[in-house]
Amino acid sequence: MTTILRRPWWRRAYDDHVPSPVDTAADRQAVRRIARRERTHLAGVLARAFEDDELSRWIYRDHPSRLRWVRSDFRLRLSQHGPDDLSYTTDDLVGAAIWAAPDRWKGHATGQLRAFGAIPRVARNRVRIGEMQRELDRRHPSIPHLYLALLGVTRERRRTGLASALLVPALTLADERGWPAYVEAGSDEAAAFYESAGFSVTGAVQLPTAPVVHLMWREPR
Ligand SMILES: CC(C)(COP(=O)(O)OP(=O)(O)OC[C@H]1O[C@@H](n2cnc3c(N)ncnc32)[C@H](O)[C@@H]1OP(=O)(O)O)[C@@H](O)C(=O)NCCC(=O)NCCS
Repeated sequence: MTTILRRPWWRRAYDDHVPSPVDTAADRQAVRRIARRERTHLAGVLARAFEDDELSRWIYRDHPSRLRWVRSDFRLRLSQHGPDDLSYTTDDLVGAAIWAAPDRWKGHATGQLRAFGAIPRVARNRVRIGEMQRELDRRHPSIPHLYLALLGVTRERRRTGLASALLVPALTLADERGWPAYVEAGSDEAAAFYESAGFSVTGAVQLPTAPVVHLMWREPR
């Protein structure tokens, strides 16, 4: 009883939810939750997935250290959202989907402490990171929703249905609980993918010289 009272409402809502294994079309591997020990490796996989991403190239100005900075940024996000237990991968660790629970889109305080480790990266690129983050935060919906903080699949495994499969457990949960879902798509290709997953564009962030970021929303089914 005490444990239940200590848990926040969103946690109680899905703690007992056991996602059914989702087969990926590629090799029939089941989508499963990310283990803590896999976070560092997956941050590297995700950073590689975003290697050609226009938004990350804009933020980090194609600096030779960009891959390293992006990896540390993604490692941070995995820590911030990991405690929500809504982060998914497959056994071969070639992609991942990182979700935040309702009202948790800014991440957990413990994870935010790790931001100190990112100070040199942030200091060097602080103006662009700050501008973009402020605008995305300002436009972030206030009604409770699941937030897809990060999704990426290694280049060799794209267009095999893997990213779609990675979204299934959280979207199934969202539908069961009546939660909408929200994501920011940093490229037209990503927006096309999210449309295929049932999201619709509700707005856009367009900073001078930056690529358009599409704001996308999915109502529960
Ligand atoms: C976007 C991304 C996650 C899609 O992963 P994926 O595993 O290739 O996606 P799926 O195979 O599940 O694609 C499902 C459908 O989405 C659409 N889609 C996927 N990638 C697309 C692209 N580059 N352009 C247009 N439509 C695309 C298609 O309709 C596709 O169905 P089809 O292959 O039968 O035509 C992947 O390309 C990626 O990791 N990109 C770099 C990181 C990124 O942009 N992440 C999202 C950032 S916000």
